Amino acid sequence: MIEVGLAELVVMAERAAERAYAPYSTYRVGAAVRGQSGRVYTGCNVENASYGATLCAERVAVATMVAAGETRLSAAAVFTFGPEPAMPCGICRQTLREFAEHADVVAACPSGTRVLALSALLPDPFVLAR
Ligand code: THU
Repeated sequence: MIEVGLAELVVMAERAAERAYAPYSTYRVGAAVRGQSGRVYTGCNVENASYGATLCAERVAVATMVAAGETRLSAAAVFTFGPEPAMPCGICRQTLREFAEHADVVAACPSGTRVLALSALLPDPFVLAR
């Protein structure tokens, strides 16, 4: 199988961002994660009138991957329509780390992209040790 590359992942994240439910912030976010199988799972932010129940795009994409039966990912893209790429929030970084020790993370917007290693975004993650 030919693996989906980072550029394609960004296109899929942009399509997901178009489906965002963000009536409160009007800030639309889309995410695409590539599972170890090569399959891609997408998500968008899903806001809520309570604000606190809002779901980030990255976590929706990861939850979709897990619900499909995959628990390892190799790359993630996040797309926003702002003037510069937006990096994943802290909770999303920890969520991505749950399913990948090493992954490429692409942050993209219409005017550019940034590619970082997940280990650079979250160098010292919480790990449950007991
Ligand atoms: N948001 C994401 O979808 N991902 C992030 O990593 C940070 C923030 C969403 C949540 C909310 O709907 C909107 O962006 C503004 O914070």
